[in-house]
Amino acid sequence: MNGKTETAFELSDGASGRSSQLPVRTGTIGPAALDIAGLHKDLDVFTYDPGFAATAATESRITYIDGDAGVLLYRGYPIEQLAGKSSFMEVAYLLLLGELPTGKQLAEFTGNIRYHTMINETLLRFFNGFHHNAHPMAMVSAVVASMSAFYHDTMDIYNPRHREIFSHRIIAKIPTIAAAAHKHSLGQPFIYPRNDLDYAANVLHMLFAVPCEPYKLDPVAAEALDLLFILHADHEQNASTSTVRLAGSTGANPYAAISAGVSALWGPAHGGANEAVLAMLEQIGSVDHIPKYLAMAKDKSSHFRLMGFGHRVYKNFDPRAKIIREMCHRVLTALGRSDNPLFELALRLEEIALKDEYFVSRKLYPNVDFYSGVIYSAIGIPRSMFTVMFAIARTVGWVAHWLEMISDPAMRIGRPRQLYTGPPRREYVEVSKRR
Ligand code: CMC
Repeated sequence: MNGKTETAFELSDGASGRSSQLPVRTGTIGPAALDIAGLHKDLDVFTYDPGFAATAATESRITYIDGDAGVLLYRGYPIEQLAGKSSFMEVAYLLLLGELPTGKQLAEFTGNIRYHTMINETLLRFFNGFHHNAHPMAMVSAVVASMSAFYHDTMDIYNPRHREIFSHRIIAKIPTIAAAAHKHSLGQPFIYPRNDLDYAANVLHMLFAVPCEPYKLDPVAAEALDLLFILHADHEQNASTSTVRLAGSTGANPYAAISAGVSALWGPAHGGANEAVLAMLEQIGSVDHIPKYLAMAKDKSSHFRLMGFGHRVYKNFDPRAKIIREMCHRVLTALGRSDNPLFELALRLEEIALKDEYFVSRKLYPNVDFYSGVIYSAIGIPRSMFTVMFAIARTVGWVAHWLEMISDPAMRIGRPRQLYTGPPRREYVEVSKRR
């Protein structure tokens, strides 16, 4: 426990005369947290917070978000500076190890990742068990979980060297697995990694190269992908990261925990939103149809939501969305597609929604996923692979959080409680006597 405790709240139950001291824990920046760990013992009550809107489930030193000010820091460094100056591998090192690497440390780290990019040939055969139209996220979550059947030699979660090798392996192999899922969907041969390429460039190579002709790598696409990876690398205790922590807190092997994270990411309220945004833009089709879809998004009886809009934490703007929006202009121009109709539609939709009282009063702004799909499509990545791209980047964050949790001597199994609203105790009735 590193957060400081300077004051405490006292909570009293007038009826029983019992009370509980709730220490106020302060971190380095951001809201303090009331430590309610003794509440149940002292007062026999739980706290109730569906969706964990006001619950800090852990201390963490990795990522900080100020949702009202639109601030995102990785290990203290603003996302804007990292996006402008850094690389995904440098950000990975920072998130995992806490500091920016020296040139030598970065070269060594990148070398370690490159060393592990191939996956066992037997794992490659798993893909053939999937139908060609299986969603790539289904293949990726299954194959990542299956990695636990291959690396018994380094799965002692309490051995720091094993944890280090795991972290290099999963970060190195997740692009190879992702690309294999894509190739399987297309019916094309798997493409082996090229360790002379940078991380993002290698992803593009494995996705798009074919054995019968040389693949010409587009540096604009590789640079754009590297930047998208930086922006998606971590986001503190989001649903998939919390899932990785919860699964990992049981002592489950780390591949199983990361696979759980992949599954949680898939949902359209989380990482699946990028795929859903593009589907929505195509469904809207033209600027004239925007009012109809905005009305649907506001109608509580319809399940339609404006995908890529709103965020649990950001109530001003999502700083990642700002960077991606600007990047869209640059990438589309560089690729000679500045008249991209989906981007035009997205810009108009944003403009109209941001003047609409419904979205203004609820502080709903475009999030990281609103524009990312436009860039992915422009560089040739199909819609079903968008969330897989997110998973590649977020693997770094998942691993950083898993490492932080496992190396904390105070780690306990995550075990939420509940407010029971089912039937009270009743007696079993023989089937012949039931009506
Ligand atoms: N379209 C229409 N209404 C919305 C939307 C939306 N996209 N998002 C929130 N609302 C409304 C919601 O109906 C509620 O209205 P009311 O107060 O009248 O009941 C109010 O805004 C608050 O919403 P909420 O559902 O209580 O907010 P939440 O914090 O539980 O959900 C969210 C956050 C991101 C799941 C939600 O905004 C959403 O579903 N957005 C669309 C999906 C999306 O873009 N997800 C990507 C999130 S960023 C990337 C990531 O985390 O992976």
